[in-house]
Amino acid sequence: MPIDTNLMRLVTISESIIESSNVKTFVFSDILSSRASPGQFLMVWIPRVEEIPMSVMISEVEGHAAISVKKYGIGSTALFQRKAGDFLGIRGPYGNSFKTLKKFRNVLLVGGGTGLVPLLRLAARINKLKIRCTMILGARTKKEIIFEKYANSLLQKLRHRIIVTTDDGSYGIRGSASDGMMKVVKNERFDCVYTCGPEPMMKKVFEIATNQSLPIQASLERYMKCGIGLCGSCCINSWLVCRDGTVFGNKDLSKMNEFGNVFRDKDGQKLQYR
Ligand SMILES: Cc1cc2nc3c(=O)[nH]c(=O)nc-3n(C[C@H](O)[C@H](O)[C@H](O)COP(=O)(O)OP(=O)(O)OC[C@H]3O[C@@H](n4cnc5c(N)ncnc54)[C@H](O)[C@@H]3O)c2cc1C
Ligand code: FES
Repeated sequence: MPIDTNLMRLVTISESIIESSNVKTFVFSDILSSRASPGQFLMVWIPRVEEIPMSVMISEVEGHAAISVKKYGIGSTALFQRKAGDFLGIRGPYGNSFKTLKKFRNVLLVGGGTGLVPLLRLAARINKLKIRCTMILGARTKKEIIFEKYANSLLQKLRHRIIVTTDDGSYGIRGSASDGMMKVVKNERFDCVYTCGPEPMMKKVFEIATNQSLPIQASLERYMKCGIGLCGSCCINSWLVCRDGTVFGNKDLSKMNEFGNVFRDKDGQKLQYR
């Protein structure tokens, strides 16, 4: 009998990997998650604490998947403290996914922080399809850079390029991931730009892509409770990110005046991005 993605499945963490001082990856066995498309997410229940959305991270182990969590508020900090042998509840995978077209020859991936998680799953697909790829990894400081080696290994079949940017210039190019993108698009033509990360960063990536007439696919993150289009907490203008996204293209993004400007807190209150 097929497994219902909406039923919570209990999984045991088989491996815990430290990516940086505040990011850990947890590997677990789950067939549905192992088959997730790039950009899809899980609702992860941390027993006795909370249920939060997490992008599906790639795992090298057959039939396994992973999540990479950055320690932040109540739920993510509790998740970060879990270890191998602990169990979690998961629902999903949910949402649409990044799309690749047969005609694509050269693509650009721009990500920051744990926004890199869905882009790594996409990088693995791009590697299989032998599409040329440039990947920009943004971080605030050298200490916060994650997944540089892993991205290199995922794209090994290709003549690819990994560019790292740090806000303080302690490693790679000084500036944000969008500053890195600005430099790259001046000299090279891309068939598509894929992005995931802090929304103000994605807004800049969207503006650069629009100025250069480049197609873009952006995976948005909003505060989520149900993950399946019922509660409305993840709305951005009239779109529900969990149901209509999380990946949106040029047409929808250009109509979202909240994109990169305002988000909703736990109680639905609108707040400005700083
Ligand atoms: C589709 C999706 C995929 C995600 N994938 C990952 C992932 O792979 N790894 C990862 O570490 N995180 C990921 N996140 C973010 C993660 O779910 C949040 O860190 C988590 O919901 C915050 O929960 P918390 O209990 O730690 O923080 P809380 O205690 O709930 O919140 C702390 C503060 O952060 C604010 N906040 C919380 N979520 C958001 C949001 N989405 N946008 C703006 N402000 C917010 C709250 O308003 C509050 O002020 C993803 C989110 C979404 C929607
Ligand atoms: S999280 Fe409930 S509608 Fe999207």
